[in-house]
Amino acid sequence: METISGKSLSKIGIGSYGVGGRGHRDMKITEKVDNEIYVDALVHTLNKNINFTELCLGYGHGQSIVLFKQALDKSQVSREDLFITHSLYPRDLPSIETINQDIADFYKIMQTDYADSTLVTQSILIKFGEKPIYDILHNLVKQNKTRYISLSNASPSWIKKFYDEFGDKFFAHEGHLSYEVRALQDKGVLSVCKKLNVENIIWRPLRRNQTKSHDWDMLIKLARKYQKTQNQIILNWMCHEEYRPMVMSTNKKHIDENIESLNFNMDDNEYKLINEFRPANYISPEVDWEGINIDDDIVGLVIDIDKIKKNSK
Ligand SMILES: NC(=O)c1ccc[n+]([C@@H]2O[C@H](COP(=O)([O-])OP(=O)(O)OC[C@H]3O[C@@H](n4cnc5c(N)ncnc54)[C@H](OP(=O)(O)O)[C@@H]3O)[C@@H](O)[C@H]2O)c1
Repeated sequence: METISGKSLSKIGIGSYGVGGRGHRDMKITEKVDNEIYVDALVHTLNKNINFTELCLGYGHGQSIVLFKQALDKSQVSREDLFITHSLYPRDLPSIETINQDIADFYKIMQTDYADSTLVTQSILIKFGEKPIYDILHNLVKQNKTRYISLSNASPSWIKKFYDEFGDKFFAHEGHLSYEVRALQDKGVLSVCKKLNVENIIWRPLRRNQTKSHDWDMLIKLARKYQKTQNQIILNWMCHEEYRPMVMSTNKKHIDENIESLNFNMDDNEYKLINEFRPANYISPEVDWEGINIDDDIVGLVIDIDKIKKNSK
């Protein structure tokens, strides 16, 4: 996959949830820092040729996309050198009319006439019905307003259905994978995407540094052996498996560390061991894979895992 200017996609991408403070339109904003910090971090990342992201008008009550645009204008990068996914999440969008408005606002704020991909969730397809959402997406493709279509937080059966509808216009599935949470691996989401030649984009790959805070034995050992950080081991593993982790950071040292995670190789057996790792004696909560609450169910997995005792290996 390439940007419209012909540049290959970087192996890691830019997370934009948290830029302008954490929160969707239906939530209070938390953890906000000065806008300059977000813009500086984004300019730094863009100038290092990290070139794909997803933008959502609900993130930071609209501030995330505005700050991203400011950073893009300040950077040495042009819009055509980026692959931007416009994400539509149901918690921000109470009606079909608000979806159409959101799409119009995306082009206006970004001063662009196209998205590289437009993303919907399985839950939005269930909430509004497949037909009205598919019609919106087909129209965007037909009018060259989006180059591709993406899906998020979906089961293998919905991914296959989506592929039947959009074929090679189906760019990526965006889902959660982390060192501890392997539901997408176990459920076959990652493998079905690979089979269909649909990219696996990974959200919250570092679990906001919570994985590192746990200090899992294998990560400590590998970090020591390769003189890397635990987060670098995680990102290196994901990229080796040809998944594309999307990381949010406001810290230039972290951003450089994340980019440098691509510059080494581990032994094949070590990648195999990481792939096979599952937290011992942990029974994860149920996910209703075909249901409308799948987004919340998966976030539940990401949070629940922190209940595991710190001394588990
Ligand atoms: N499709 C969906 O349903 C969905 C759901 C959630 C998120 N997303 C997308 O996925 C993106 C990534 O997820 P996320 O932002 O929740 O989680 P994340 O990228 O795993 O973690 C971001 C947090 O980790 C810290 N961090 C980043 N690199 C670090 C490093 N090298 N060392 C230590 N700490 C580091 C950052 O702090 P510093 O600022 O201090 O570096 C930040 O607080 C989001 O921004 C959003 O775009 C999509």
